[in-house]
Amino acid sequence: MKKISKICCIGAGYVGGPTMAVIAAKCPDITVTVVDINEQRIAAWNTEKLDQLPIYEPGLAEIVGEARGKNLFFSTDIERAIDEAQLIFISVNTPTKTYGIGKGMAANIRYIESCTRTIARVAKDDKIVVEKSTVPVRTAATVKAILEHTGNQVKFNVLSNPEFLAEGTAVRDLLNADRVLIGGDSDPDGQAAIAALVDVYAHWLPRERILTTNVWSSELSKLAANAFLAQRVSSINAMSELCEATNADVREVARAIGMDSRIGAKFLQASVGFGGSCFQKDILNLVYIARHYGLREVADYWEQVIRINAHQRERFAKRMVTSLFNNVSDKKIAFLGWAFKKDTNDTRESSAIYVADFLIRERAQIHVYDPKVSLDQMRQDLRELGSRPADVNDQHLFASSDPYEVLNGAHAIAVMTEWDEFKTLDWPRIHKDMEKPPFVFDGRNVLERRELEAIGFQYSGIGA
Ligand code: UDX
Ligand code: ADP
Repeated sequence: MKKISKICCIGAGYVGGPTMAVIAAKCPDITVTVVDINEQRIAAWNTEKLDQLPIYEPGLAEIVGEARGKNLFFSTDIERAIDEAQLIFISVNTPTKTYGIGKGMAANIRYIESCTRTIARVAKDDKIVVEKSTVPVRTAATVKAILEHTGNQVKFNVLSNPEFLAEGTAVRDLLNADRVLIGGDSDPDGQAAIAALVDVYAHWLPRERILTTNVWSSELSKLAANAFLAQRVSSINAMSELCEATNADVREVARAIGMDSRIGAKFLQASVGFGGSCFQKDILNLVYIARHYGLREVADYWEQVIRINAHQRERFAKRMVTSLFNNVSDKKIAFLGWAFKKDTNDTRESSAIYVADFLIRERAQIHVYDPKVSLDQMRQDLRELGSRPADVNDQHLFASSDPYEVLNGAHAIAVMTEWDEFKTLDWPRIHKDMEKPPFVFDGRNVLERRELEAIGFQYSGIGA
């Protein structure tokens, strides 16, 4: 296999964008072209103003600024980029299906299929095709089948190379990955393709952190990793409800169990529920696959992780209504945060959407401050949930770029995202400007309970 000098990545999203920026920055001998059908998104990646890139990630603007125009390019000319590259990453979205067989459970691989067909049509010489998007296990067989029936007589090698970065820490995770996983075939061509991709990552990562497996293990490992991580969050969230019933404190419980080295301290932060584009989608997909193979107990086991998450969101919203004298109609409720976690502008599956939806059903007026999310995005998120006509949502949802405007005159505050800046707000001023009694529902357990209670807030966290 020749050394890789040109890479194409199809899909300029939360995975493709940061991953390719880091590859370009660390591999000056490789030209990386990121392509997308979304012209607006590509234009935004090419913007002069680096603070207006389509994706917000700490450290990303600096890396893009350094590599762009040298060996990192963003383009809508998909065919040309495919034609020129020896290695093509497929990094398109695979959302949960909203129609037909597997509706609401299976991952929709239509975008994967569509770009695979483009690769098959355009390729004039041998290519390594890498699945970067999270896909159902055995998707590589579909990709291979499409590529091999094109009649172009070129050889394709399909690899699975799932991405494990977490949003908000994407650049750090990519630069210092715990591991990189590459799955490929065991025949000599498959092994050569694996070696070519290993070489790319070996530009900056120690070889022992680059794992190679067969394609199916690699595809399934990504689903398994996300399922295990989400399971930890649901486990601690299930404990949080028990803590509330028994006067235990979930943070103390998390600390006590996390010091057991077999359990470990990470991912034990009780919250209003996990969000993001991966956890729910990947577990639903896992459940769907297990059912497909007739593994009912396995499917039911993992499905419970999602159920606890939905329950956690709902009981948080219910508790708000109950505390506010069972009535939030026309009350101003301030949301601090809308993104699914701090340091990202991504809102997919954010618990804020579900809690807002619940409160709007009770006719509350929601006013949101999020440092990186626009009102348009929030409105779109609620529209996509489809609970009621968009104009009704719009009459109940407002946002401001000034947190104090959002908080002024509010009956209650719901902390939905753990943005650091919320801790240093002028809390005595907020207390003065709120309706009395002023409630804080800390969905992330990030504020100082004792300090807020000393000022006069009614504080309610998760699991204490
Ligand atoms: C996740 C995986 O971590 C990553 O490896 C994979 O590639 C994609 O999916 P991401 O969804 O970006 O990454 O963020 P993550 O940090 O995993 O958080 C997911 C959600 O869980 C967030 O809403 C977060 O707030 C929540 N969470 C996380 C908790 O509620 N408690 C925790 O202890 C950890
Ligand atoms: P992820 O979090 O998986 O990166 P995103 O939705 O942020 O998901 O990004 C996926 C990107 O893939 C989108 O910008 C979308 O326009 C792009 N995309 C989807 N299908 C195709 C396709 N057939 N060709 C090129 N780009 C595509």
